[in-house]
Amino acid sequence: MSTKESPLHRDAPHESGLGHVTGTAIYVDDMAGPTGTLHAMVLHSPHARARILSRNGDAARRLPGVHAVLFAEDIPGTNRIGPIVHDEPLLAEDEVFAIGQSVALILADDLMTARAAAAAITVEYQELPAILSIQAAIEAGSFSTDPHVIERGSVTEALEAASLVLDGEFQNGGQDHFYLETQSALAVPGEHRSIHLYSSTQHPTEVQAMASEVLGIGRHMITCEVPRMGGAFGGKESQATQYAVLAALGAQHLGRAVRLWLNRDQDMLWTGNRHPFYSRYQAGFDGEGRILGFRVEIYSDGGWTQDLSGPVMDRALFHLDNAYYIPALHFRGQVARTNLASNTAFRGFGGPQGMLVIEEAMTQAADRLGIDGAEIRRRNYYGESPRDKCPYGQPVTDCRLDRIYVPLLKSSDYYARREEIEAFNDERPWIKRGIAFGPLKFGISFTASMLNQAGALVLIYTDGTVQLNHGGTEMGQGLHTKMLAICAHELGVPLKAVRMMHTATDKVPNTSATAASSGSDLNGQAVRHACAELRDRLRSIAASMLDLDHSSRDDLRFQGGRVQLDDGRGLDFAAVAQQAWLEQCSLSATGYYRTPGITYDREAGRGKPFHYFAYGASVIEVEICGLTGESRVLRVDILHDVGDSLVPSIDKGQVEGGFVQGLGWLTTEELVWNERGYLLTHSPSTYKIPASGDVPADFRVTLLEDARQDDVIHGSKAVGEPPLMLAMSVVTALREAIHSFANTERPLELEVPVTAERILRAVENVRASNEESDPDVLLSPLKDEHART
Ligand code: MTE
Ligand code: HPA
Ligand code: MOS
Repeated sequence: MSTKESPLHRDAPHESGLGHVTGTAIYVDDMAGPTGTLHAMVLHSPHARARILSRNGDAARRLPGVHAVLFAEDIPGTNRIGPIVHDEPLLAEDEVFAIGQSVALILADDLMTARAAAAAITVEYQELPAILSIQAAIEAGSFSTDPHVIERGSVTEALEAASLVLDGEFQNGGQDHFYLETQSALAVPGEHRSIHLYSSTQHPTEVQAMASEVLGIGRHMITCEVPRMGGAFGGKESQATQYAVLAALGAQHLGRAVRLWLNRDQDMLWTGNRHPFYSRYQAGFDGEGRILGFRVEIYSDGGWTQDLSGPVMDRALFHLDNAYYIPALHFRGQVARTNLASNTAFRGFGGPQGMLVIEEAMTQAADRLGIDGAEIRRRNYYGESPRDKCPYGQPVTDCRLDRIYVPLLKSSDYYARREEIEAFNDERPWIKRGIAFGPLKFGISFTASMLNQAGALVLIYTDGTVQLNHGGTEMGQGLHTKMLAICAHELGVPLKAVRMMHTATDKVPNTSATAASSGSDLNGQAVRHACAELRDRLRSIAASMLDLDHSSRDDLRFQGGRVQLDDGRGLDFAAVAQQAWLEQCSLSATGYYRTPGITYDREAGRGKPFHYFAYGASVIEVEICGLTGESRVLRVDILHDVGDSLVPSIDKGQVEGGFVQGLGWLTTEELVWNERGYLLTHSPSTYKIPASGDVPADFRVTLLEDARQDDVIHGSKAVGEPPLMLAMSVVTALREAIHSFANTERPLELEVPVTAERILRAVENVRASNEESDPDVLLSPLKDEHART
């Protein structure tokens, strides 16, 4: 098919862009409910762990405007939800396990009344000791999963043979999703006790399934519809479910529509975050900086329920190698159970946490061996050799690391700038710069192989217009823009002839979450298959309208709103659709796709969990101030592989946005709890996400050219999560800048996020040890600075 008039592989505005800026794009909470829609509010646990001695809602129920106060015993079906293991009571029973756990559901005329009702409910608690950190959980033996182990060769022998052995610890903090639209749902009761459930969820099928189990009715009685989300980032893969199901519970109980929406503080306090990780590692390197053996033990803070912590840990283990071939290894990962909000999916899904560990080891090794940071990484790259298998046995085919390394180092002028920075740092006593290179290899597919499936439903009307349904959800990532482009391309109709419908479980059933960056890979193929089926039917109709013999039937092309032959003979698409109706030919079709050839055996730690890998690399230059600890990113060069991009402008936006979100996680976003397990940083005044001013002033994003990926929709590659990890080298760059305050080389350990406070403390430590070795240095920079001004 000619791509001449096709919208595929071309820049396009986001399908809702105009709606976003004019306020006409509809989100769940914008939807007008039917008259009499009630407001729901959740009464939550104020304790990290406590026994519930009694609870009483009578006083609240008597307040005017209050319609119901529901506790666990008012649930008609099961009180257990959860994306994999159903270990999460929807409403607390006789014990609470985290601050923010839902205890009661209040249904009232308006939110103010619901708040008054919440204050009138009495719950008597007996506080119990709580576990509030990974370390405390390890000591107490509190885990929510068994260890997952991946190993190869003998690490002990490898470490013995190594000329450098690192023995270290590393830890990273969590991250709040800070989607602009907080969790929200609207449940509307219908005939036969059915419920239409609007939810801001990445996973409509899970919302449907959990609502059906909690309400004790079949899934066919529940439709979950998603207009779009105002951001999700993994935070609505499993955690939108609870609030949607609570709305459905209220709607079923009262037979009235119910709206439930969390304000920012509630959302930040009650819902989970990216998992903090703690790890211990030993890494052995030869004299040239090649890694020989790597032993890692990693723990994540899963919070109080399992949620997606198991698969997040799996993905962390799958990415402990990042881009590097490791001959001997032993990886062990386990999820700690604590009394904090249950942590969940977040862009990268454990991958970033895993990669940070080996990046730390690479940086430490480069320092000690006196090898440049980019060079040591290149020396460890996976190559094309069949020996170069991932720790879990999957070969790294079509490795693009070198194709990215060479042009990026050149275009970013890495080595020359490194020298300039050294000269700059020698001159400036308080302002220092650092530069670092970081590569990325990220596995694409859900690691639970059966989730890699998708469906679509395409409807053609007799005027030639089209409604497009697919199982994926739009969260700002541009999935709908890509699906529209694919559909218009396949049917050869203009984009404006295709309408994207809301995602709904009554159009495409039994879907997977839109996650793992696979939304366009999976749904794109399903849309393509549905369109191919329709094209096939329409081709027969057109062939008989044009009186073509059987062989030239196959030469009919769908393009430019026409069904035609190369010689120009043809018909308008609408005319063919009209004729199809007259000839009693169906104009709707479903499409289905499953990713071929992926499996993983968790017990053995072996398999091919990924359909392919996405690659990229970045060079980041930073500047820090030794007096305040403030940092800035001065320039960023990125070369990233998105295959043959479906819509390059969308993919570029994903790379930029993902990168900046990664910067936030690694530098300014810090979650702080008090000793009771209460999150202190629950609003934008104390939790600092990147603002527009934090976007690097000089930001050069390039997509790898000539990068078609076989066996993926139109040669493209997934893009949603990988770019977040391009920000990892900011840690190394900041470290370099801090290091330049030292008058001798000595290793430096940094915790993530590298906040202004941590930078300041590190600089002070470095300068204090300078003083030990040379008492004059401490004051000398200040003297110099005064001399200059
Ligand atoms: N981009 C925007 N604007 N908003 C989001 O919430 N989520 C990310 C990524 N990009 C997100 C985003 C995450 S976590 C994933 S898994 C992918 O988008 C999901 O969409 P895709 O599979 O269609 O790429
Ligand atoms: N990635 C993202 N989300 C998921 C995955 C995964 O691998 N598995 C289950 N949910
Ligand atoms: Mo993305 S963390 O897989 O929703």
